[in-house]
Amino acid sequence: MELKVYLKQKQRIVDGFLKEYLSALKSNPPQASRLYKAMGYSLLAGGKRLRPILAIASYEAAGGRSKSILPVAASLELIHTYSLIHDDLPAMDDDNFRRNKPTSHRVFGEGMAILAGDALLTEAFGIISNSPAKSDILIKIIVELTQACGADGMVGGQAADILLEGKRIKEKDLLYIHTHKTGALIKASVRIGALMAAAPPSVLNSLTKYGTNIGLAFQIIDDILDIIGTQEELGKSPGADTARGKNTYPSVYGMEESIRKAEQLVEESLEALKGFGAKAEPLREIATYLLKRRN
Ligand code: IPE
Ligand code: IPE
Ligand code: MG
Ligand code: MG
Ligand code: MG
Repeated sequence: MELKVYLKQKQRIVDGFLKEYLSALKSNPPQASRLYKAMGYSLLAGGKRLRPILAIASYEAAGGRSKSILPVAASLELIHTYSLIHDDLPAMDDDNFRRNKPTSHRVFGEGMAILAGDALLTEAFGIISNSPAKSDILIKIIVELTQACGADGMVGGQAADILLEGKRIKEKDLLYIHTHKTGALIKASVRIGALMAAAPPSVLNSLTKYGTNIGLAFQIIDDILDIIGTQEELGKSPGADTARGKNTYPSVYGMEESIRKAEQLVEESLEALKGFGAKAEPLREIATYLLKRRN
């Protein structure tokens, strides 16, 4: 199946789950409906759904065949969306546009944006704990996600990202920022697919290598797009990194070397899937697509 069709099909499935989840939230007391509106505003603004799709594709590559991956996959999008809402806040990157719309705090105010993020993160774990998988697998997934998103995961990366703004940075600190603020959740998404499929250690190891490599490549490309992308393509304001003195791959290594590094990482991610055969084709195509993406 062509990648575009595959992505569309999976996006539709994830979006369906998210809409159902949102419509089941009960506005009681009525004031809470403002919070629910803020959650839905960002969640349904049209993200690529890359993390859920990676979890599903990895699950299928590891031999998983049922729909039981869906709640866990969709919960990754709640976590990712929370991270974007908070990332855009005035106290962090102070951005005005996201997913082609004004950012959450511009529409709902900072307090509601913070709380919408808090709620999405917390609810993600509620969705996971209601999922149909066996409890020993669910516990592994919860451990995986808390590590990927917590103080030595995404949040640690975000902290380093803002603390080192405008400072000269060591290469190892830049690597820490990128592998943690973005790479960790992407790697976890791939690993979670494998965990749901009860993959043996050798399969989990290969998928972990794949996820680690594309996770870093993804953020290098995000940095590149901040320079060469347009507002229409990105759905967010380009040039934001330079304006804030962010440490990025292009700012530290230059554009050419950054592209080379991203290509190298994608190559290594494909190498990791060598023994997988046709079931891993979507994962391979996603890796290659990352180099060409314009949003
Ligand atoms: C943007 O993520 C933020 C980063 C982690 C670099 P995406 O590029 O996946 O954003 P959406 O979900 O498609 O909006
Ligand atoms: C965001 O990195 C990482 C997380 C949200 C965890 P960026 O700050 O580079 O993402 P964009 O460019 O605003 O989407
Ligand atoms: Mg940021
Ligand atoms: Mg940002
Ligand atoms: Mg960025």
